[in-house]
Amino acid sequence: MNNRKILVEPNVERALQTAADLVATIACEAVAARGQFTMALSGGTTPHPLYELLTKPPRTDTVPWQDAQVFFGDERDVPADHPDSNYRMVQQTLLDRVPVRLEHVHPMPGDAADLDQAAGQYAELIIDHVAAGPSGLPAFDLILLGMGGDGHTASIFPGTPALEESRKLVMTHFVPVLGRKRMTFTLPLINAARNILFLVTGVDKAEAVEKVLSENPAVASELPAGRVRPTDGTLFFLMDTGAARKTNYRP
Ligand code: 6PG
Repeated sequence: MNNRKILVEPNVERALQTAADLVATIACEAVAARGQFTMALSGGTTPHPLYELLTKPPRTDTVPWQDAQVFFGDERDVPADHPDSNYRMVQQTLLDRVPVRLEHVHPMPGDAADLDQAAGQYAELIIDHVAAGPSGLPAFDLILLGMGGDGHTASIFPGTPALEESRKLVMTHFVPVLGRKRMTFTLPLINAARNILFLVTGVDKAEAVEKVLSENPAVASELPAGRVRPTDGTLFFLMDTGAARKTNYRP
C-alpha cells in the first residue's frame, strides 16, 4: 500500500505530539482547500491525552475549530451523559474547551429507541455534511482511529458481520464479546476518507500491530484494523516503540 505512512515515535508523549501536529496540518489544509474540516473522532483511552494536548498552548489555535464539523466513529449504547459515552469523553476532554460551534458537533445517538434506524439517520447526516470523494462516498478529511489488542477498530470487532458490511455507511450491531450493541462507521465509509490516522500505543498492542502491518494482505485482513485501506486517501499509522516492538519499524 503506497498511500500508507508508518510513523514510530520513541515514546507515547512524542506520538501524541506528532498526532496533534498531523491533526492541525490536515485541518488547515482542508479549510484552505474546501472551507471546512470534517473529522470523526474515536473513543477509547489512547486519544484522551491527544484531545487534551489540542486544547493547551502552544496548540490552542492550531486547529481552525470554527470551521470544523465533528462526528464520531463509534459509540456505545448509552445516553450522551453516561460515563461510557465516547461523546461525553470527547466533550469533556476537547469540545468544551475549544471554539467549535455546537451545531457542528454531531454525537451518535447511542440511546435511540431504534438504534438501527438511528445509524441510518446518522449516515444521512454524514452525507449532508461531508462531500463525496472520488469513490462517491462521503470522504472525511480525517478519521481518527484506535485499535484494541484483538485488532478491532472503531466498533468493528473480529468475527462480526460488521467486517463484511458493504452497503451501509454506519451500522448498529450486537458485539458478542461485549454482550452489548455498538454503533459504528463501516469499512466502506472509513476507507473513503481523505486521511485516516491510527494512534496505537503500548506493548499490549504489539501482536495485533505485527499482523495489521504485515506485507501479506491475507494476514493483515484477519484483523479488522488490517482491513483499513483507504481507497484514495492516506493512512497514517502512528505508534510508540512499544506498539511497534514486533515489527521492523523504528523511530
Ligand atoms: C472505542 C473505540 C475503539 C478503541 C479501541 C482502543 O470507542 O472504544 O473507538 O475502537 O479505539 O478499543 O481503545 P484504547 O485506546 O482504550 O486501547
